Amino acid sequence: MDQDPTALVDIHNHLVPGVDDGARSLEDVLASVERMAREGIRKIITTPHLDGSLTLDAGRLERRLGEVDEAFELAVRALGERLPHIDFRRGHEVMLDVPDVDFSEPRLRLAGTSFVLVEWPHLRVPPGTLQVLRRVRSEGYRPVVAHPERYMGIDLEIARRWREAGAYLQVNYGSLDGRYGGDARTFAGQLLRRGWADYLASDFHGRPERKLYRAEAWERIGSLDGEEALARLCVTNPGRILLDQEPLPVPGIPQKRGLWAKVKGILKQESA
Ligand SMILES: [Fe+2]
Repeated sequence: MDQDPTALVDIHNHLVPGVDDGARSLEDVLASVERMAREGIRKIITTPHLDGSLTLDAGRLERRLGEVDEAFELAVRALGERLPHIDFRRGHEVMLDVPDVDFSEPRLRLAGTSFVLVEWPHLRVPPGTLQVLRRVRSEGYRPVVAHPERYMGIDLEIARRWREAGAYLQVNYGSLDGRYGGDARTFAGQLLRRGWADYLASDFHGRPERKLYRAEAWERIGSLDGEEALARLCVTNPGRILLDQEPLPVPGIPQKRGLWAKVKGILKQESA
């Protein structure tokens, strides 16, 4: 683990320039990572979008990965000069648009580990998700479902069964602040209360006009006495991905309100 126990690790964001709907240019990348660093984020696994169906066509996959490789290397070089203390790696956010996505290419996975960040198409829960997750797991990969709280048709029973099938759940910071509407905020809260979210991440799209929502999420969880959960969700568990280790259990966040002073103290300490 990092020497600094408050160094945050972000496992979901779009900071490879010009390859998806995230950062458009190196300037966007540098400005974004500077902002993230100011918020205490020290390690970043960036996750450009990729359609899983591409993995079934070796030629098209290689072309796409070549494009991402090239843009990623430019970002790595620029960040190495401007922000050398930031650990910048990559994976992909893989859309499960076919049931038999092939994850054998290490560049598809988070920092080349056995973890894969996945999402379902059209922000809906399609039929057959359990079989897909079980298959991914049986092939030796560890699926992390991106922003489960954002899916139409999601409920606690589905989330419970995804976890039972061996998937981990990653909630977006912005969901806790209503960035994706009331239903996503409510469901994110339900996951956190039960200790069913394994990771929090920014899903930051690398544009100056976008918010990170890190501070807002921390305020909400901190005010509910969720400090221990925050450390697990933002530091320990995403840090364990880099070590190719499964997440530790996250304590459920109680519903009672804590003290503002306590929250401010934690935020101050965390950003120091
Ligand atoms: Fe994303």
